Amino acid sequence: MKVLVTGGAGFIGSHCCVDLMTHDVEVVVVDDHSNSSPLALDRVAELAGRELASYAVDVRDPAALDAVFREHGFDAVIHFAARKAVGESVEMPFEYYDANVGGLLNLLRTMRAHEVGRLVFSSSCSIYGDADEVPIREETPARPASPYARTKWFCEQILADVCARDSAWSVMALRYFNPVGAHESARIGEDPRGVPNNLMPYLTQVAVGRLRELSVFGDDYPTVDGTGVRDYIHVMDVVEGHRAALERMDAPGFRSLNLGTGIGTSVLQLLAAFTQVCGRELPYRIVARRPGDVAELVAAPDRAARELDWRSRRDVLDMCRDAWRFQQRNPQGYESA
Ligand code: UD1
Repeated sequence: MKVLVTGGAGFIGSHCCVDLMTHDVEVVVVDDHSNSSPLALDRVAELAGRELASYAVDVRDPAALDAVFREHGFDAVIHFAARKAVGESVEMPFEYYDANVGGLLNLLRTMRAHEVGRLVFSSSCSIYGDADEVPIREETPARPASPYARTKWFCEQILADVCARDSAWSVMALRYFNPVGAHESARIGEDPRGVPNNLMPYLTQVAVGRLRELSVFGDDYPTVDGTGVRDYIHVMDVVEGHRAALERMDAPGFRSLNLGTGIGTSVLQLLAAFTQVCGRELPYRIVARRPGDVAELVAAPDRAARELDWRSRRDVLDMCRDAWRFQQRNPQGYESA
């Protein structure tokens, strides 16, 4: 099987490439490196023990993407390439619609021209917004609360419409909850540019001394200890979910599936787990809520268990341990290695 992975140098994409390549899938990457390092792909090849073809291509570029499809006969595509910072999407909505919706449309156009109909699409739990019911099932009405979340929701609707009309398509949208952690080798991991937006990379950078203290965004939510609750999931579990999806794309049509653990962890609980793993207390301060944040997002993971025969296997301590090891061995990320 030969698979195109867009955004293959990014956090989830790079782990997905390693997982596929170590399971006899031939992988080709396109990535414009707008938010990823090409060095991640060298590490992927090293971990997989073989080379992979990669192209510095923006998925919105029709001619460049077409040339990649012309060179390779793909059986399927996994589409990670997108922008993902919620706050930034409020500041620059056009760029988010252009990259995320525009990128998908050009990819679909190219896939159709080359008669490739199988697609695994990166969606997000953020499409649910402030959900009325937790755990969140796929039937929970979408209420996306940011331009970023709306790009993911619109993409899902485009895909559903396309599949409804043409049985040549088989598409799975995987709605990730909060992917964290790193490959157990500590050779690849999460390496955000600038100050991290997200909790786990922020924690690891405090622990390694790059940042002074953690700001906990609010302790007055209606949750176990007042801090925000999320469904953190190990990135290797996430990518194993993609492999399970690829193996089950024979039926035409559109499906959306949550990829989560079903277990909620508060900010202070994650901090406590991380402290246990890194062996010392980390400085933190309670500050105001972050605009746009919700109290609790936890997946009902049953549909993926049923339809993909997939379940997460790694716990919060595994996630903290692997994220911490990657940060320790790569204190300044990939570029300074
Ligand atoms: C968000 C998006 C998600 C997106 C992900 C990656 C929503 C609902 N979710 O996840 O779709 O894919 O970002 O960009 O929009 N926190 C702190 N201090 C920090 C950072 C975070 O206390 O310095 C808290 C937050 O308030 C939240 C929790 O930690 O309660 C997790 O935050 P974060 O890691 O940023 O992820 P989400 O906002 O859940």
